[in-house]
Amino acid sequence: MTPTPQLHIINHPLVQHKLTLVRQAETHTQDFRRLLKEIAMLLAYEVTRDLPLRYEQIKTPLAEMTAPMVGTDKNMVIVPIMRAGQGLLDGMLELIPTAKVGHIGLYREPTTLMVVEYYLKLPRDVQERDLLVVDPMLASGHSAVAAVDRLKEANPKSIKFVCLLAAPEGVAYFHEIHPDVPIYTAAVDQGLDDHGYIIPGMGDAGDRLFGTK
Ligand code: URA
Repeated sequence: MTPTPQLHIINHPLVQHKLTLVRQAETHTQDFRRLLKEIAMLLAYEVTRDLPLRYEQIKTPLAEMTAPMVGTDKNMVIVPIMRAGQGLLDGMLELIPTAKVGHIGLYREPTTLMVVEYYLKLPRDVQERDLLVVDPMLASGHSAVAAVDRLKEANPKSIKFVCLLAAPEGVAYFHEIHPDVPIYTAAVDQGLDDHGYIIPGMGDAGDRLFGTK
């Protein structure tokens, strides 16, 4: 899939290398978790490229200068989609320590296939902040779309969606419903299998992250 202004594919060599390691079936929970954290830091670096800067008068040991600093202290909210999204949270917070954290929990009702929200907690000043919605996998796109539907109701300044892997079907569906929300991903894979898993993908990200398989 070709990148567009709304689809950012992070092809930095370190991201691609670490992504290959997390894809491998023999990578166990401890390494999987560490690698997800490292990739999340690199994704945070890319996703914050357009942060506004302000200029402050500072003193180095040798001289005064006007130096750039990141915008205001009311900057971001990171919202992991539970549960796998939590695997990206610590890495993002390492790079953006002033961010607040919201949580959204969704599951797919097995008979109706409707997405059901079971948890939502956001900071009170969300209207003054930019939201980063994070989930390792953008598969069918149903959870991502439902999460962003709900988060838009809170009226944040902006929303970006950050994942590790996407399926073309998920990207298309997400942008059909939310064309205004950019996607940041490390790769777009071939597609989905009959169970909704991304192929070749990395398997069930939540199970691999928490060791629940
Ligand atoms: N969720 C996962 O964890 N893995 C997939 O491949 C698709 C959805």
